Amino acid sequence: MTGFAYRDGEMHAEGVALSRIAREVGTPVYVYSSAMLRANYRAFADAMKGLDAEVHYAVKANSNLAVIRTFARLGAGADIVSEGEMRRALAAGVPADRIVFSGVGKKVSELRAALEVGIRQINVESRHELDMLDGVAGAMGKRTDIAIRINPDVDPNTHAKITTGKKGNKFGIDIDLAREAFAYAAGKPNLNVLGVAIHIGSQITDMEPYRHAIRRVREFVGQLRADGLDITRFDVGGGLGITYRNETPVPIDAFVGMVRQETGNMGCALSFEPGRRLVGDAGVLLGEVILVKPGVARTFVIVDAAMNDLIRPTLYEAWHDIVPARQPAANAEEIVTDIVGPICESGDFLAQKRTMTPLAAGDLVVVKSAGAYGAVMSSTYNTRPLVPETLVDGDRYAVVRPRQTYEQLIGADRVPAWLE
Ligand code: LLP
Repeated sequence: MTGFAYRDGEMHAEGVALSRIAREVGTPVYVYSSAMLRANYRAFADAMKGLDAEVHYAVKANSNLAVIRTFARLGAGADIVSEGEMRRALAAGVPADRIVFSGVGKKVSELRAALEVGIRQINVESRHELDMLDGVAGAMGKRTDIAIRINPDVDPNTHAKITTGKKGNKFGIDIDLAREAFAYAAGKPNLNVLGVAIHIGSQITDMEPYRHAIRRVREFVGQLRADGLDITRFDVGGGLGITYRNETPVPIDAFVGMVRQETGNMGCALSFEPGRRLVGDAGVLLGEVILVKPGVARTFVIVDAAMNDLIRPTLYEAWHDIVPARQPAANAEEIVTDIVGPICESGDFLAQKRTMTPLAAGDLVVVKSAGAYGAVMSSTYNTRPLVPETLVDGDRYAVVRPRQTYEQLIGADRVPAWLE
């Protein structure tokens, strides 16, 4: 009864028919499976047994409080990139000392907020940030633990927009400049330089780039120790890919096993920062077909879920599997269609030239593997209310973010006095 599967001809999330959620909550709507969230987390936890390591869930992938709390209950920490994400992690029950703050452009106010609650570690990405953080900590009479994110210059073989650890990316400090940066940090009175952090990219399906990066870090840590620094933490980042179409993801136990082997004699506590791998396949976006428009060149299936609800196809040319909620007959004919939203842009599509069984107005469609970077990247473009989210657990489900009302959406604007 786990995950998403057809039962009695209807797509279910665990024990709940998606048609029921569509009826009761309306569409478009995100649906998450608790069982899959837990199974994904446990795969990490099991693989890490005996290792001095923690999972800091990258909450940017799906920052709904119910999702974060599901992981927090299992012992997860959080990787955050903004004060907002910090507030979410805390509200969801992640202890402050299990929160790691990453990000290339943290503001003074955000650093202050992080020090106020006493988070575990700040991953610093530039010399300027070292100065800022040292100043903020000093003014508060505190000393803070940091890691420095380095850019190891490896190619993770993924989409350019989610490659982060190659020369020329804005993230981290170039490995060639990093030794100097660590020495500089060590001279700061309010910083406690404990670790090295990397994050080489996202949707990575090959283990070798990680291995290369880790070997570089291992050698680099040796240099830092020769310089007299006491490095005790290594944050390997996130980035593990999932199957959207036909990718073969790296098994979690093989990945953790590789990290265990490569870091065996490093003497560092490890941090993993998975996002997508924990939530991606645990969520779907459910939409309803508004109409079908046959054309000369193409047939368009127009659904009520659009690029404002799921922007990945538009932004990264991402492929998401789309299936009807009602199971098609095994021998049903298939046609080639575009599945698009109602938004006034040609870039508004969920799938192009997709071969699938024909759809008709009123049919429900299930956009799969949408649990990561789906709802969190949604917007209200075309004044469409923010998409709601639901969480299934066995035979029950709950709305974990209601659909925004028009009042909330439009009522948030203010007309200045001079226009009244
Ligand atoms: N740690 C850091 C410092 C990160 O920047 C990220 C993601 C992660 C961990 C988690 O990476 P994951 O395990 O989820 O791959 N919106 C894009 C993905 C952007 C990833 C940004 N950084 C997408 O929809 O594909």
